[in-house]
Amino acid sequence: MKILIVGGGGREHVIAWKLKQNARVEKLYAAPGNAGIALLAECVPIKATDLDQLVSFSVEKKLDLVFVAPDDPLALGLVDRLEEAGIKAFGPSQAAARIESSKSFAKQLMREKNIPTADYTVFSELEPALAAVDVASLPLVVKADGLALGKGVIIAQTRDEARQAVHDMLGGSRFGDAGRTIVLEEFLRGPELTVLAFCDGKTVKPMLSSRDHKRAFDHDRGPNTGGMGAVSPGAKLSEKDWQQMQASIFQPTLDALRERGTPFSGVIYFGLMLTEQGPKVIEYNARFGDPEAQAILPLLETDLLEIIESILDQKLDTLDIKWSQQASCCVVAASGGYPSSYKKGYPIEGIDEAERFGLVFQAGTALDQGRVVTSGGRVLCVTAMADTLDQAIDTAYRGMDCIRFKDRHIRKDIGRT
Ligand code: AMP
Ligand code: GLY
Repeated sequence: MKILIVGGGGREHVIAWKLKQNARVEKLYAAPGNAGIALLAECVPIKATDLDQLVSFSVEKKLDLVFVAPDDPLALGLVDRLEEAGIKAFGPSQAAARIESSKSFAKQLMREKNIPTADYTVFSELEPALAAVDVASLPLVVKADGLALGKGVIIAQTRDEARQAVHDMLGGSRFGDAGRTIVLEEFLRGPELTVLAFCDGKTVKPMLSSRDHKRAFDHDRGPNTGGMGAVSPGAKLSEKDWQQMQASIFQPTLDALRERGTPFSGVIYFGLMLTEQGPKVIEYNARFGDPEAQAILPLLETDLLEIIESILDQKLDTLDIKWSQQASCCVVAASGGYPSSYKKGYPIEGIDEAERFGLVFQAGTALDQGRVVTSGGRVLCVTAMADTLDQAIDTAYRGMDCIRFKDRHIRKDIGRT
Protein backbone atom coordinates (compact mmCIF):
# COMPACT_ATOMS: atom_id res chain seq x y z
CA MET A 1 0.00 0.00 0.00
CA LYS A 2 1.03 3.57 -0.61
CA ILE A 3 0.11 5.94 2.21
CA LEU A 4 0.51 9.68 2.73
CA ILE A 5 0.59 11.20 6.23
CA VAL A 6 -0.36 14.88 6.24
CA GLY A 7 1.54 16.89 8.88
CA GLY A 8 5.07 17.22 10.16
CA GLY A 9 5.20 17.04 13.96
CA GLY A 10 5.96 14.45 16.63
CA ARG A 11 2.42 13.12 16.29
CA GLU A 12 2.96 12.42 12.59
CA HIS A 13 6.33 10.79 13.39
CA VAL A 14 4.76 8.30 15.81
CA ILE A 15 1.95 7.62 13.30
CA ALA A 16 4.55 6.89 10.59
CA TRP A 17 6.51 4.64 12.99
CA LYS A 18 3.39 2.70 13.92
CA LEU A 19 2.09 2.32 10.33
CA LYS A 20 5.51 1.12 9.17
CA GLN A 21 5.13 -1.93 11.43
CA ASN A 22 2.64 -3.36 8.95
CA ALA A 23 4.40 -5.26 6.14
CA ARG A 24 1.65 -4.28 3.69
CA VAL A 25 2.86 -0.67 3.82
CA GLU A 26 5.29 -0.52 0.87
CA LYS A 27 5.65 3.21 0.62
CA LEU A 28 5.04 6.05 3.04
CA TYR A 29 4.96 9.72 2.11
CA ALA A 30 4.70 12.65 4.50
CA ALA A 31 3.72 16.23 3.69
CA PRO A 32 5.67 18.14 4.80
CA GLY A 33 7.26 15.71 7.32
CA ASN A 34 10.49 16.43 9.23
CA ALA A 35 14.02 15.03 9.60
CA GLY A 36 12.85 12.13 11.79
CA ILE A 37 9.93 11.18 9.57
CA ALA A 38 12.37 11.25 6.62
CA LEU A 39 13.98 8.08 8.04
CA LEU A 40 10.66 6.24 7.52
CA ALA A 41 8.92 8.09 4.70
CA GLU A 42 9.60 10.20 1.65
CA CYS A 43 8.92 13.80 2.65
CA VAL A 44 7.26 15.98 0.04
CA PRO A 45 7.42 19.76 0.42
CA ILE A 46 3.67 20.43 0.43
CA LYS A 47 2.12 22.35 3.29
CA ALA A 48 -0.58 20.59 5.31
CA THR A 49 -3.00 23.38 4.36
CA ASP A 50 -2.33 23.29 0.60
CA LEU A 51 -5.41 21.24 -0.26
CA ASP A 52 -5.08 21.55 -4.05
CA GLN A 53 -1.55 20.21 -4.10
CA LEU A 54 -2.26 17.45 -1.58
CA VAL A 55 -5.20 16.22 -3.66
CA SER A 56 -3.29 16.31 -6.94
CA PHE A 57 -0.29 14.55 -5.38
CA SER A 58 -2.56 11.81 -3.99
CA VAL A 59 -4.28 11.28 -7.35
CA GLU A 60 -1.03 11.35 -9.31
CA LYS A 61 0.61 8.77 -7.01
CA LYS A 62 -2.59 6.68 -6.91
CA LEU A 63 -2.40 6.53 -3.11
CA ASP A 64 -4.32 3.85 -1.21
CA LEU A 65 -4.78 5.97 1.90
CA VAL A 66 -4.19 9.49 3.23
CA PHE A 67 -3.97 10.00 7.00
CA VAL A 68 -4.92 13.60 7.81
CA ALA A 69 -3.45 14.28 11.26
CA PRO A 70 -3.54 18.09 12.01
CA ASP A 71 -6.56 20.27 12.77
CA ASP A 72 -6.25 22.87 10.00
CA PRO A 73 -6.58 20.60 6.93
CA LEU A 74 -9.47 18.78 8.63
CA ALA A 75 -11.26 22.08 9.28
CA LEU A 76 -10.59 23.13 5.66
CA GLY A 77 -12.23 19.94 4.36
CA LEU A 78 -9.26 17.93 3.05
CA VAL A 79 -10.97 14.61 3.77
CA ASP A 80 -14.01 15.64 1.70
CA ARG A 81 -11.79 16.80 -1.17
CA LEU A 82 -9.81 13.54 -1.19
CA GLU A 83 -12.97 11.43 -1.14
CA GLU A 84 -14.43 13.43 -4.04
CA ALA A 85 -11.25 12.62 -5.94
CA GLY A 86 -11.68 8.89 -5.17
CA ILE A 87 -8.91 8.69 -2.55
CA LYS A 88 -9.53 6.97 0.80
CA ALA A 89 -8.81 9.28 3.71
CA PHE A 90 -8.62 8.75 7.47
CA GLY A 91 -10.09 11.63 9.43
CA PRO A 92 -13.44 13.38 9.83
CA SER A 93 -15.27 15.36 7.17
CA GLN A 94 -15.24 19.16 7.42
CA ALA A 95 -18.77 19.08 8.89
CA ALA A 96 -17.85 16.55 11.59
CA ALA A 97 -14.57 18.37 12.36
CA ARG A 98 -16.67 21.35 13.51
CA ILE A 99 -16.65 19.84 17.00
CA GLU A 100 -13.11 21.26 17.10
CA SER A 101 -13.22 24.15 14.65
CA SER A 102 -16.25 25.84 16.29
CA LYS A 103 -16.48 25.90 20.08
CA SER A 104 -20.03 27.28 19.95
CA PHE A 105 -21.08 24.36 17.72
CA ALA A 106 -19.49 21.91 20.18
CA LYS A 107 -21.27 23.52 23.14
CA GLN A 108 -24.63 23.47 21.34
CA LEU A 109 -24.20 19.78 20.57
CA MET A 110 -23.38 19.03 24.21
CA ARG A 111 -26.37 21.00 25.42
CA GLU A 112 -28.71 19.12 23.09
CA LYS A 113 -27.50 15.75 24.36
CA ASN A 114 -27.08 16.77 28.01
CA ILE A 115 -23.39 15.94 27.84
CA PRO A 116 -21.75 17.28 31.02
CA THR A 117 -19.76 20.45 30.32
CA ALA A 118 -19.22 23.94 31.75
CA ASP A 119 -22.22 26.32 31.63
CA TYR A 120 -21.84 28.87 28.86
CA THR A 121 -23.28 31.64 26.70
CA VAL A 122 -22.35 32.55 23.11
CA PHE A 123 -21.90 36.17 21.93
CA SER A 124 -21.09 37.91 18.68
CA GLU A 125 -21.86 41.47 19.84
CA LEU A 126 -19.66 43.48 22.18
CA GLU A 127 -22.28 45.18 24.42
CA PRO A 128 -24.22 42.08 25.54
CA ALA A 129 -20.93 40.22 26.12
CA LEU A 130 -19.60 43.03 28.34
CA ALA A 131 -22.90 43.12 30.23
CA ALA A 132 -22.57 39.38 30.88
CA VAL A 133 -19.01 39.87 32.15
CA ASP A 134 -20.34 42.39 34.74
CA VAL A 135 -22.47 39.75 36.45
CA ALA A 136 -20.48 36.55 35.84
CA SER A 137 -18.69 34.60 38.59
CA LEU A 138 -14.91 34.73 38.59
CA PRO A 139 -12.66 33.27 37.31
CA LEU A 140 -14.40 33.47 33.95
CA VAL A 141 -13.28 31.57 30.86
CA VAL A 142 -13.36 33.52 27.58
CA LYS A 143 -12.96 31.47 24.39
CA ALA A 144 -12.62 32.40 20.74
CA ASP A 145 -15.01 30.29 18.68
CA GLY A 146 -12.56 29.20 15.97
CA LEU A 147 -9.11 27.58 15.75
CA ALA A 148 -6.51 29.82 17.40
CA LEU A 149 -3.40 27.62 17.77
CA GLY A 150 -4.36 26.77 21.35
CA LYS A 151 -4.21 30.47 22.30
CA GLY A 152 -7.90 31.28 22.06
CA VAL A 153 -8.70 30.52 25.71
CA ILE A 154 -8.31 33.19 28.38
CA ILE A 155 -8.92 32.35 32.03
CA ALA A 156 -9.77 35.77 33.42
CA GLN A 157 -9.22 36.15 37.18
CA THR A 158 -10.66 39.68 37.25
CA ARG A 159 -13.48 41.49 35.46
CA ASP A 160 -10.96 43.81 33.82
CA GLU A 161 -9.07 40.88 32.33
CA ALA A 162 -12.33 39.38 31.09
CA ARG A 163 -13.38 42.70 29.51
CA GLN A 164 -9.98 43.00 27.83
CA ALA A 165 -10.26 39.46 26.41
CA VAL A 166 -13.78 40.15 25.12
CA HIS A 167 -12.56 43.37 23.46
CA ASP A 168 -9.56 41.62 21.92
CA MET A 169 -11.68 38.85 20.45
CA LEU A 170 -14.87 40.58 19.36
CA GLY A 171 -12.96 43.69 18.32
CA GLY A 172 -11.21 41.39 15.85
CA SER A 173 -7.77 42.66 16.70
CA ARG A 174 -6.05 39.57 18.09
CA PHE A 175 -7.79 36.48 16.81
CA GLY A 176 -9.07 37.46 13.37
CA ASP A 177 -12.14 35.55 12.21
CA ALA A 178 -11.64 32.91 14.92
CA GLY A 179 -12.73 35.51 17.52
CA ARG A 180 -15.78 37.01 15.80
CA THR A 181 -17.92 34.77 17.97
CA ILE A 182 -16.97 34.02 21.57
CA VAL A 183 -18.05 31.67 24.32
CA LEU A 184 -18.14 32.82 27.95
CA GLU A 185 -17.82 29.79 30.14
CA GLU A 186 -17.95 28.71 33.76
CA PHE A 187 -14.52 27.86 35.27
CA LEU A 188 -14.21 24.16 36.11
CA ARG A 189 -11.92 22.75 38.82
CA GLY A 190 -10.21 19.39 38.96
CA PRO A 191 -7.46 17.41 37.29
CA GLU A 192 -7.54 17.32 33.50
CA LEU A 193 -7.58 14.11 31.53
CA THR A 194 -7.43 13.33 27.83
CA VAL A 195 -9.27 10.41 26.32
CA LEU A 196 -8.68 9.75 22.64
CA ALA A 197 -11.17 7.48 20.93
CA PHE A 198 -11.40 5.67 17.61
CA CYS A 199 -14.74 6.34 15.89
CA ASP A 200 -16.36 4.90 12.76
CA GLY A 201 -19.51 7.02 12.69
CA LYS A 202 -21.50 4.76 15.01
CA THR A 203 -19.05 2.93 17.30
CA VAL A 204 -16.65 4.77 19.63
CA LYS A 205 -13.77 2.88 21.28
CA PRO A 206 -11.72 4.84 23.78
CA MET A 207 -7.94 4.36 23.89
CA LEU A 208 -5.92 4.44 27.13
CA SER A 209 -6.29 7.69 29.06
CA SER A 210 -3.48 10.23 28.97
CA ARG A 211 -2.52 13.56 30.46
CA ASP A 212 -0.90 16.47 28.71
CA HIS A 213 1.19 19.23 30.33
CA LYS A 214 0.27 22.37 28.41
CA ARG A 215 2.08 25.12 30.31
CA ALA A 216 5.62 26.05 29.34
CA PHE A 217 7.23 25.88 32.80
CA ASP A 218 7.38 23.55 35.81
CA HIS A 219 4.47 23.50 38.29
CA ASP A 220 2.07 24.53 35.50
CA ARG A 221 3.42 28.07 35.22
CA GLY A 222 3.91 30.20 32.16
CA PRO A 223 2.07 30.45 28.87
CA ASN A 224 0.11 27.63 27.24
CA THR A 225 2.01 25.62 24.64
CA GLY A 226 1.02 22.84 22.25
CA GLY A 227 2.08 20.45 25.04
CA MET A 228 5.41 19.91 26.85
CA GLY A 229 4.95 16.23 27.64
CA ALA A 230 2.35 13.57 28.36
CA VAL A 231 1.86 10.40 30.33
CA SER A 232 -0.40 7.42 29.88
CA PRO A 233 -2.45 6.30 31.69
CA GLY A 234 -3.49 9.80 32.75
CA ALA A 235 -5.52 8.78 35.81
CA LYS A 236 -6.61 5.72 37.75
CA LEU A 237 -10.07 4.96 36.41
CA SER A 238 -12.31 2.06 37.38
CA GLU A 239 -14.37 0.00 34.95
CA LYS A 240 -17.40 1.89 36.31
CA ASP A 241 -15.79 5.29 35.51
CA TRP A 242 -15.20 4.13 31.92
CA GLN A 243 -18.76 2.87 31.55
CA GLN A 244 -20.11 6.17 32.87
CA MET A 245 -18.00 8.22 30.46
CA GLN A 246 -19.00 5.96 27.58
CA ALA A 247 -22.70 6.40 28.39
CA SER A 248 -22.74 10.10 29.29
CA ILE A 249 -20.03 11.54 27.01
CA PHE A 250 -18.45 9.37 24.31
CA GLN A 251 -21.47 7.62 22.77
CA PRO A 252 -23.84 10.65 22.95
CA THR A 253 -21.22 12.77 21.15
CA LEU A 254 -20.97 10.27 18.33
CA ASP A 255 -24.76 9.82 18.21
CA ALA A 256 -25.34 13.59 18.03
CA LEU A 257 -23.04 13.91 15.01
CA ARG A 258 -24.60 10.92 13.24
CA GLU A 259 -28.13 12.18 13.88
CA ARG A 260 -27.19 15.52 12.26
CA GLY A 261 -26.19 13.65 9.11
CA THR A 262 -22.48 14.28 9.73
CA PRO A 263 -21.15 11.03 11.21
CA PHE A 264 -17.66 11.26 12.73
CA SER A 265 -15.00 8.93 11.36
CA GLY A 266 -11.47 9.18 12.75
CA VAL A 267 -10.18 10.03 16.21
CA ILE A 268 -12.03 12.24 18.71
CA TYR A 269 -9.99 13.88 21.45
CA PHE A 270 -12.09 14.31 24.59
CA GLY A 271 -10.46 16.98 26.79
CA LEU A 272 -12.03 16.32 30.20
CA MET A 273 -12.02 17.88 33.64
CA LEU A 274 -12.52 15.38 36.47
CA THR A 275 -14.71 17.60 38.65
CA GLU A 276 -16.32 16.75 41.99
CA GLN A 277 -19.57 16.20 40.08
CA GLY A 278 -17.87 13.77 37.69
CA PRO A 279 -16.07 14.16 34.35
CA LYS A 280 -17.05 17.16 32.21
CA VAL A 281 -15.98 18.01 28.66
CA ILE A 282 -13.65 21.03 28.34
CA GLU A 283 -13.11 20.65 24.63
CA TYR A 284 -13.27 18.29 21.69
CA ASN A 285 -10.56 17.93 19.10
CA ALA A 286 -11.15 16.10 15.85
CA ARG A 287 -7.77 14.32 15.76
CA PHE A 288 -4.96 12.73 17.78
CA GLY A 289 -3.40 15.08 20.34
CA ASP A 290 0.25 16.02 20.19
CA PRO A 291 2.09 14.90 22.42
CA GLU A 292 -0.62 12.49 23.65
CA ALA A 293 -0.19 10.39 20.48
CA GLN A 294 3.53 9.96 21.22
CA ALA A 295 2.67 8.63 24.70
CA ILE A 296 -0.21 6.38 23.63
CA LEU A 297 0.58 4.83 20.25
CA PRO A 298 3.70 3.00 21.52
CA LEU A 299 1.33 1.19 23.95
CA LEU A 300 -1.02 0.09 21.15
CA GLU A 301 -0.56 -3.62 20.44
CA THR A 302 -3.14 -3.95 17.66
CA ASP A 303 -1.98 -2.96 14.20
CA LEU A 304 -2.91 0.68 13.46
CA LEU A 305 -3.60 0.06 9.76
CA GLU A 306 -6.02 -2.73 10.70
CA ILE A 307 -7.87 -0.29 12.99
CA ILE A 308 -8.01 2.37 10.26
CA GLU A 309 -9.36 -0.15 7.75
CA SER A 310 -12.04 -1.33 10.17
CA ILE A 311 -13.05 2.32 10.68
CA LEU A 312 -13.25 3.00 6.94
CA ASP A 313 -15.38 -0.18 6.56
CA GLN A 314 -17.53 0.86 9.54
CA LYS A 315 -16.70 -2.39 11.33
CA LEU A 316 -14.99 -1.01 14.41
CA ASP A 317 -17.54 -2.85 16.60
CA THR A 318 -16.09 -6.21 15.51
CA LEU A 319 -12.46 -5.34 16.28
CA ASP A 320 -10.81 -6.19 19.59
CA ILE A 321 -8.19 -3.48 20.24
CA LYS A 322 -5.33 -4.55 22.53
CA TRP A 323 -3.17 -2.32 24.69
CA SER A 324 0.02 -2.92 26.64
CA GLN A 325 -0.31 -3.05 30.42
CA GLN A 326 2.71 -0.76 30.72
CA ALA A 327 2.77 2.97 31.41
CA SER A 328 4.48 5.56 29.23
CA CYS A 329 5.97 9.01 29.58
CA CYS A 330 6.82 11.41 26.78
CA VAL A 331 9.04 14.43 27.51
CA VAL A 332 9.28 17.22 24.94
CA ALA A 333 12.41 19.28 24.25
CA ALA A 334 11.54 22.74 22.96
CA SER A 335 13.54 25.65 21.59
CA GLY A 336 14.27 28.23 24.33
CA GLY A 337 11.72 31.04 24.04
CA TYR A 338 8.89 28.82 22.75
CA PRO A 339 5.90 29.47 22.62
CA SER A 340 7.02 33.05 21.83
CA SER A 341 9.98 33.74 19.56
CA TYR A 342 12.96 31.40 19.36
CA LYS A 343 15.97 30.78 17.13
CA LYS A 344 16.27 27.88 14.69
CA GLY A 345 19.09 26.00 13.02
CA TYR A 346 20.97 24.64 16.07
CA PRO A 347 22.54 21.18 15.58
CA ILE A 348 20.97 18.43 17.68
CA GLU A 349 23.15 15.74 19.22
CA GLY A 350 22.55 12.59 21.22
CA ILE A 351 19.51 11.12 19.43
CA ASP A 352 21.18 7.67 19.08
CA GLU A 353 22.14 7.67 22.77
CA ALA A 354 18.61 8.68 23.80
CA GLU A 355 17.22 5.75 21.82
CA ARG A 356 18.87 3.37 24.30
CA PHE A 357 16.25 4.55 26.79
CA GLY A 358 13.20 5.11 24.66
CA LEU A 359 11.76 6.17 21.35
CA VAL A 360 12.68 9.55 19.90
CA PHE A 361 9.97 11.26 17.86
CA GLN A 362 11.02 14.39 16.03
CA ALA A 363 8.88 17.50 15.52
CA GLY A 364 10.58 20.81 14.65
CA THR A 365 13.68 19.33 13.01
CA ALA A 366 15.24 19.68 9.57
CA LEU A 367 18.31 18.38 7.76
CA ASP A 368 21.07 20.87 7.09
CA GLN A 369 24.01 19.45 5.13
CA GLY A 370 23.33 16.01 6.54
CA ARG A 371 22.98 17.22 10.13
CA VAL A 372 19.75 17.27 12.12
CA VAL A 373 19.05 20.83 13.27
CA THR A 374 16.25 22.57 15.16
CA SER A 375 13.55 24.14 12.98
CA GLY A 376 10.54 24.67 15.23
CA GLY A 377 9.21 25.38 18.73
CA ARG A 378 8.73 21.82 19.87
CA VAL A 379 11.85 20.05 18.59
CA LEU A 380 11.50 16.40 19.57
CA CYS A 381 10.34 14.13 22.36
CA VAL A 382 11.55 11.00 24.12
CA THR A 383 8.94 8.38 25.03
CA ALA A 384 9.79 5.62 27.49
CA MET A 385 7.64 2.70 28.58
CA ALA A 386 7.91 0.69 31.78
CA ASP A 387 5.90 -1.42 34.20
CA THR A 388 5.21 1.56 36.45
CA LEU A 389 4.65 5.20 35.62
CA ASP A 390 7.51 6.24 37.93
CA GLN A 391 9.94 4.02 36.02
CA ALA A 392 8.66 5.31 32.69
CA ILE A 393 9.17 8.92 33.84
CA ASP A 394 12.73 8.20 35.09
CA THR A 395 13.67 6.42 31.89
CA ALA A 396 12.24 9.15 29.64
CA TYR A 397 14.32 11.74 31.53
CA ARG A 398 17.46 9.58 31.27
CA GLY A 399 16.86 9.50 27.52
CA MET A 400 16.25 13.25 27.43
CA ASP A 401 19.54 13.83 29.33
CA CYS A 402 21.34 12.59 26.19
CA ILE A 403 19.71 15.19 23.90
CA ARG A 404 21.81 18.30 23.42
CA PHE A 405 21.14 21.48 21.47
CA LYS A 406 21.61 25.17 22.20
CA ASP A 407 18.88 26.76 24.36
CA ARG A 408 17.10 23.42 24.88
CA HIS A 409 14.08 23.86 27.14
CA ILE A 410 12.32 21.02 28.93
CA ARG A 411 9.91 20.70 31.83
CA LYS A 412 11.33 18.64 34.66
CA ASP A 413 8.01 17.63 36.20
CA ILE A 414 6.18 15.72 33.45
CA GLY A 415 3.96 13.13 35.12
CA ARG A 416 4.85 14.49 38.54
CA THR A 417 2.40 17.40 38.92
P1 AMP B 1 -8.89 24.45 25.25
O1 AMP B 1 -8.17 25.16 24.14
O2 AMP B 1 -10.37 24.53 25.16
O3 AMP B 1 -8.33 23.07 25.45
O4 AMP B 1 -8.46 25.14 26.60
C1 AMP B 1 -7.11 25.24 26.95
C2 AMP B 1 -6.97 24.99 28.44
O5 AMP B 1 -7.72 25.98 29.15
C3 AMP B 1 -7.55 23.67 28.90
O6 AMP B 1 -6.65 22.61 28.75
C4 AMP B 1 -7.85 23.97 30.36
O7 AMP B 1 -6.67 23.89 31.13
C5 AMP B 1 -8.26 25.41 30.32
N1 AMP B 1 -9.74 25.53 30.29
C6 AMP B 1 -10.53 25.60 29.20
N2 AMP B 1 -11.82 25.68 29.55
C7 AMP B 1 -11.86 25.67 30.90
C8 AMP B 1 -12.92 25.74 31.87
N3 AMP B 1 -14.18 25.86 31.51
N4 AMP B 1 -12.57 25.69 33.17
C9 AMP B 1 -11.27 25.59 33.54
N5 AMP B 1 -10.25 25.53 32.69
C10 AMP B 1 -10.53 25.57 31.37
N1 GLY C 1 -1.98 18.35 23.27
C1 GLY C 1 -3.14 19.07 22.96
C2 GLY C 1 -3.57 19.04 21.58
O1 GLY C 1 -3.06 18.31 20.74
O2 GLY C 1 -4.51 19.77 21.24
